[in-house]
Amino acid sequence: MFNSKALLASTLAAVLSLAVAAPAKPSTDASVTVEVCTSPGPTGCINLPVVSDSCINFTGGLSFLNKEITVAIVPGGFICTFFQDFGCTATGVSNAGTDSEVALVQGTWDMRSVPGLSGTTSFDDLTSSISCSPL
Ligand SMILES: *[C@@H]1O[C@H](CO)[C@@H](O)[C@H](O)[C@H]1NC(C)=O
Repeated sequence: MFNSKALLASTLAAVLSLAVAAPAKPSTDASVTVEVCTSPGPTGCINLPVVSDSCINFTGGLSFLNKEITVAIVPGGFICTFFQDFGCTATGVSNAGTDSEVALVQGTWDMRSVPGLSGTTSFDDLTSSISCSPL
Protein backbone atom coordinates (compact mmCIF):
# COMPACT_ATOMS: atom_id res chain seq x y z
CA MET A 1 0.00 0.00 0.00
CA PHE A 2 2.71 2.44 1.08
CA ASN A 3 4.79 1.65 -2.01
CA SER A 4 2.00 2.23 -4.48
CA LYS A 5 1.20 5.55 -2.82
CA ALA A 6 4.82 6.63 -3.09
CA LEU A 7 4.88 5.49 -6.71
CA LEU A 8 1.75 7.49 -7.44
CA ALA A 9 3.26 10.58 -5.81
CA SER A 10 6.49 10.33 -7.79
CA THR A 11 4.57 9.66 -11.00
CA LEU A 12 2.44 12.71 -10.34
CA ALA A 13 5.56 14.79 -9.68
CA ALA A 14 7.10 13.57 -12.93
CA VAL A 15 3.95 14.41 -14.89
CA LEU A 16 3.76 17.86 -13.32
CA SER A 17 7.41 18.67 -14.05
CA LEU A 18 6.85 17.50 -17.62
CA ALA A 19 3.83 19.79 -17.95
CA VAL A 20 5.82 22.74 -16.61
CA ALA A 21 8.81 22.02 -18.83
CA ALA A 22 6.78 21.60 -22.02
CA PRO A 23 6.15 25.30 -22.90
CA ALA A 24 9.89 25.96 -22.97
CA LYS A 25 10.30 23.67 -25.97
CA PRO A 26 9.21 25.41 -29.19
CA SER A 27 8.76 22.09 -30.96
CA THR A 28 5.88 21.15 -28.68
CA ASP A 29 4.21 24.56 -28.70
CA ALA A 30 1.25 24.19 -31.02
CA SER A 31 0.74 27.96 -31.06
CA VAL A 32 3.89 28.51 -33.15
CA THR A 33 2.95 29.09 -36.75
CA VAL A 34 4.50 30.05 -40.05
CA GLU A 35 2.27 32.41 -42.00
CA VAL A 36 2.21 32.22 -45.78
CA CYS A 37 0.41 34.48 -48.23
CA THR A 38 -0.43 33.99 -51.87
CA SER A 39 -0.32 37.70 -52.63
CA PRO A 40 2.00 40.59 -51.66
CA GLY A 41 -0.79 42.32 -49.74
CA PRO A 42 -2.32 41.16 -46.46
CA THR A 43 -4.77 38.89 -48.23
CA GLY A 44 -4.72 35.19 -48.98
CA CYS A 45 -2.74 34.42 -45.85
CA ILE A 46 -2.91 31.28 -43.78
CA ASN A 47 -1.16 30.20 -40.57
CA LEU A 48 0.37 26.76 -40.68
CA PRO A 49 1.25 25.11 -37.34
CA VAL A 50 4.98 24.51 -37.05
CA VAL A 51 5.88 20.94 -36.22
CA SER A 52 9.64 20.74 -35.96
CA ASP A 53 11.43 18.91 -38.73
CA SER A 54 8.23 17.63 -40.32
CA CYS A 55 7.44 18.24 -43.97
CA ILE A 56 4.33 20.14 -45.03
CA ASN A 57 3.37 19.32 -48.61
CA PHE A 58 1.13 21.75 -50.44
CA THR A 59 -1.13 18.94 -51.57
CA GLY A 60 -4.69 17.99 -50.67
CA GLY A 61 -6.35 20.75 -48.66
CA LEU A 62 -3.26 22.93 -49.00
CA SER A 63 -2.93 22.58 -52.78
CA PHE A 64 -4.19 26.15 -53.25
CA LEU A 65 -0.80 27.21 -51.83
CA ASN A 66 1.22 25.15 -54.30
CA LYS A 67 3.49 27.44 -56.38
CA GLU A 68 1.56 30.42 -55.02
CA ILE A 69 3.51 31.70 -52.00
CA THR A 70 4.62 35.32 -52.31
CA VAL A 71 5.02 36.29 -48.64
CA ALA A 72 6.20 34.17 -45.71
CA ILE A 73 6.38 35.13 -42.05
CA VAL A 74 8.81 32.90 -40.19
CA PRO A 75 8.48 32.69 -36.39
CA GLY A 76 11.35 33.43 -34.01
CA GLY A 77 13.58 30.54 -33.00
CA PHE A 78 13.04 28.66 -36.25
CA ILE A 79 14.56 28.32 -39.68
CA CYS A 80 12.05 27.36 -42.34
CA THR A 81 13.10 25.90 -45.66
CA PHE A 82 10.89 26.40 -48.72
CA PHE A 83 11.26 23.74 -51.42
CA GLN A 84 10.35 23.70 -55.11
CA ASP A 85 9.58 19.98 -54.90
CA PHE A 86 7.13 18.04 -52.76
CA GLY A 87 8.62 15.99 -49.95
CA CYS A 88 11.03 18.71 -48.74
CA THR A 89 13.89 17.32 -50.79
CA ALA A 90 16.83 19.61 -51.39
CA THR A 91 18.49 19.02 -54.74
CA GLY A 92 20.74 22.07 -54.81
CA VAL A 93 20.42 24.31 -57.85
CA SER A 94 17.64 23.21 -60.15
CA ASN A 95 17.89 22.68 -63.92
CA ALA A 96 16.21 25.96 -64.69
CA GLY A 97 19.03 27.76 -62.88
CA THR A 98 16.92 28.69 -59.89
CA ASP A 99 17.50 27.43 -56.37
CA SER A 100 15.71 24.23 -55.38
CA GLU A 101 15.14 25.66 -51.91
CA VAL A 102 15.61 28.73 -49.74
CA ALA A 103 16.10 28.73 -45.96
CA LEU A 104 14.64 31.70 -44.08
CA VAL A 105 14.93 32.77 -40.45
CA GLN A 106 12.57 34.95 -38.39
CA GLY A 107 10.99 37.79 -40.30
CA THR A 108 8.49 38.81 -42.95
CA TRP A 109 9.85 37.76 -46.32
CA ASP A 110 8.83 38.90 -49.77
CA MET A 111 9.64 35.78 -51.77
CA ARG A 112 10.43 37.92 -54.81
CA SER A 113 13.70 38.84 -53.10
CA VAL A 114 15.20 36.33 -50.67
CA PRO A 115 18.70 35.09 -49.82
CA GLY A 116 19.37 32.13 -52.07
CA LEU A 117 22.22 29.64 -52.36
CA SER A 118 24.33 32.07 -54.39
CA GLY A 119 22.93 35.51 -53.65
CA THR A 120 19.57 37.22 -53.67
CA THR A 121 17.02 35.35 -55.71
CA SER A 122 13.30 35.22 -56.40
CA PHE A 123 11.40 32.28 -54.94
CA ASP A 124 8.02 33.76 -55.83
CA ASP A 125 5.33 31.21 -56.69
CA LEU A 126 7.80 28.31 -56.45
CA THR A 127 7.16 26.63 -53.09
CA SER A 128 5.61 23.16 -53.03
CA SER A 129 6.64 22.07 -49.52
CA ILE A 130 8.13 23.56 -46.38
CA SER A 131 9.90 22.31 -43.29
CA CYS A 132 10.85 24.24 -40.13
CA SER A 133 13.52 23.41 -37.55
CA PRO A 134 14.31 25.02 -34.20
CA LEU A 135 17.49 27.09 -34.20
C1 LIG B 1 5.10 14.79 -49.49
O1 LIG B 1 5.12 14.43 -50.83
C2 LIG B 1 6.18 13.54 -51.18
C3 LIG B 1 6.20 13.36 -52.67
O2 LIG B 1 4.92 13.21 -53.19
C4 LIG B 1 5.99 12.24 -50.40
O3 LIG B 1 7.04 11.34 -50.70
C5 LIG B 1 6.00 12.54 -48.92
O4 LIG B 1 5.73 11.36 -48.19
C6 LIG B 1 4.96 13.58 -48.56
N1 LIG B 1 5.17 13.96 -47.19
C7 LIG B 1 4.17 14.26 -46.36
C8 LIG B 1 4.56 14.63 -44.97
O5 LIG B 1 3.00 14.25 -46.71
